[in-house]
Amino acid sequence: MQKRRLPGARGIALSIALATGLAALPVFAQDKPFKIGLILPMTGQQATTGRQIEAAAKLYMAQNGDTVAGRKVQLLVRDDTSLPDMTRRLAQELVVNDKVNVLAGMGITPSALATAPLATQSKTPLVVMSAATSSITEASPYVVRTSFTLPQVSVPLADWASGNGIKKVVTLVSDYGPGIDAEKYFSQRLSANGGQVTEALRVPLRSPDFAPFLQKVRDAKPDALFVFVPSGASAAVMKQFLERGLGKAGIRLIATGDVTEDDQLNAMGDGALGVVTSHHYSAAHPSPLNKQFVQAFEQANKGLRPNFMAVGGYDGMRVIYEALKTTRGVGDGDALLAAMKGQVFESPRGPVSIDAQTRDIVQNVYLRKVERVDGQLYNVEFDVIEGVKDPGKSR
Ligand code: PHB
Repeated sequence: MQKRRLPGARGIALSIALATGLAALPVFAQDKPFKIGLILPMTGQQATTGRQIEAAAKLYMAQNGDTVAGRKVQLLVRDDTSLPDMTRRLAQELVVNDKVNVLAGMGITPSALATAPLATQSKTPLVVMSAATSSITEASPYVVRTSFTLPQVSVPLADWASGNGIKKVVTLVSDYGPGIDAEKYFSQRLSANGGQVTEALRVPLRSPDFAPFLQKVRDAKPDALFVFVPSGASAAVMKQFLERGLGKAGIRLIATGDVTEDDQLNAMGDGALGVVTSHHYSAAHPSPLNKQFVQAFEQANKGLRPNFMAVGGYDGMRVIYEALKTTRGVGDGDALLAAMKGQVFESPRGPVSIDAQTRDIVQNVYLRKVERVDGQLYNVEFDVIEGVKDPGKSR
């Protein structure tokens, strides 16, 4: 026969907590801080991504307080230098040693894919604020994404191109997950619309030299060049496009908004005027919430303009904060994950939701043109496709 031990004070408190449901549980949880392990590339080629997301996360906390449902929120920022082995190692340390409640950040796709198995094993929600290959949400049931996907923005751009006399296109993408998604979904849609991708060029992710590829494009003389490169590489590709005189040779540049990202756009100069892109966020988005966001971000960061990475980080923090409120301060991974799914809110980018089935973000995709407004270059929105789900999920 098993001996039954009399419950101690803690056992009684736990029984009461269990009997009365979630409301009583924070009694224990509230003692401990709620920890968010934010892994970002703070140095190297993707350093601007880290800087933008960290600044946005801190802004969100400054605006919304660092105590949520009675728990002190701690942000633990780590630099993975955008090397996936480093991302995985840092994530492991954060989960095992620091006992974080949530992992977040993920500057590039290989980092997110390297961390996803750990999220599954440890039942830790992984809020992907940057990486944008469609398949990332399928790598772990604990991934929730607040950035975007390349199929989501590439399909609307193909439709715009077909509607604007662009038939023959050469594609130029970074040779890894998001680039391959962009190439595939842009090209399939253009073909379905009666157009054609005549050549598909891929450049290495690390230290790319665009010159030989752009020379090929010049020789091929398509109606347009479609480009995707990740945030941080935009200025280099734009500079080379302009220097090689592709625009003057009658080749239009069309791109995902990664190429005209807001923090780099002014430095690209007048050569960027007229470039049409599709994306989910522009600092020029004309909503009162976005105006407030841009102003507060610039004020807190010496005039730095927020780009789409910042909004992914800001909204990621919102998703985490609201999940913590819903679970009344209980940091349990499964409860948090459940409370992240299905959130609906207004972001500085416009209305968004987290699809409860796919855990991916559903959002408006805007067509934009680079214009000069009040002396500065902006991506000015001229059309919108509302409530776009990731087309990559309907395979
Ligand atoms: C990615 O690696 O998934 C990624 C990074 C930067 C971007 C887009 C996608 O701008």
